Amino acid sequence: MDRKLALVTGASAGIGQAFARILASHGYDLALTARRTDRLDALAEEIGLRFGVETLTIGADLAEAEGPGRILDHLTAHGRTVDLLANNAGYGLPGAYADTRWSDQAAFIQVMLTAPCELAHRVLPGMVERKFGRIVNVASLAGLVPGSAGHTLYGAAKGFLVRFSQSLHLETQGTGVHVTALCPGFTFSEFHDVNGTRALATASTPAWMWLGADEVAATGYEAVEANRAVCVPGAPNKAIAAIAKLDPYDWALALMASQGPRFRKV
Ligand SMILES: NC(=O)c1ccc[n+]([C@@H]2O[C@H](COP(=O)([O-])OP(=O)(O)OC[C@H]3O[C@@H](n4cnc5c(N)ncnc54)[C@H](OP(=O)(O)O)[C@@H]3O)[C@@H](O)[C@H]2O)c1
Repeated sequence: MDRKLALVTGASAGIGQAFARILASHGYDLALTARRTDRLDALAEEIGLRFGVETLTIGADLAEAEGPGRILDHLTAHGRTVDLLANNAGYGLPGAYADTRWSDQAAFIQVMLTAPCELAHRVLPGMVERKFGRIVNVASLAGLVPGSAGHTLYGAAKGFLVRFSQSLHLETQGTGVHVTALCPGFTFSEFHDVNGTRALATASTPAWMWLGADEVAATGYEAVEANRAVCVPGAPNKAIAAIAKLDPYDWALALMASQGPRFRKV
């Protein structure tokens, strides 16, 4: 195979779909994975016709411990290795921690943390050996600001992905592998519909704070090409991330206590 292969998780909607189109436009063949295979197949057909790249679709639930292994076994069976990994699949789990079921939180940890870490761990040695690799971990602005009430593990999970990416970024210097944490703020996708906070999020957040999924994915692609450890798309989000760094913790926490309920469902 001449062309490199990009594996995009959560490719059935939003930022993942946008990543798939951008990567195909840069000549990558694609392995698209999510649970909704009808959407993956439709996207694969569109992208194949438009960009002339090869596509593979793999239905997998990343809440299942075998998910990452099954995805990569499928690629191995097709004689392909991963040159770019976009760890993008994700969702929010509304509510206060004590009111949620542990089984839901455990599945959340599996999708948001274990699966991206396992996929990166499995593909990284091959990338280093071939002296080329790109890993984009889609984190969030929520990983760069203090925790808020509701969606309890979301900020923690995204903060973990930021730190994880920074460490991998340092470990891979000079190997030809680039690692980036992409930290979007409010982005138009299905995210807020899936977790039932669309009305709350759009009513409480001014239009200028929202970015399109295409812009977010394009910024992420540029950042990983430029080998930047952390990328925050959009000027308002960059300003929030910068202020969060300077804010004393107790002030920042007080700010999250007053502002959090505007966009988080507790
Ligand atoms: N939208 C925002 O405002 C925003 C802001 C910051 C960060 N992010 C992050 O951006 C990433 C993409 O989200 P999005 O905004 O594009 O949301 P989205 O439109 O809802 O897309 C989420 C994707 O994740 C997949 N997914 C969810 N649960 C899965 C599971 N158990 N197994 C496999 N795939 C699963 C979904 O596919 P299936 O349902 O077909 O499985 C879908 O393709 C997430 O990591 C999210 O946390 C989003």
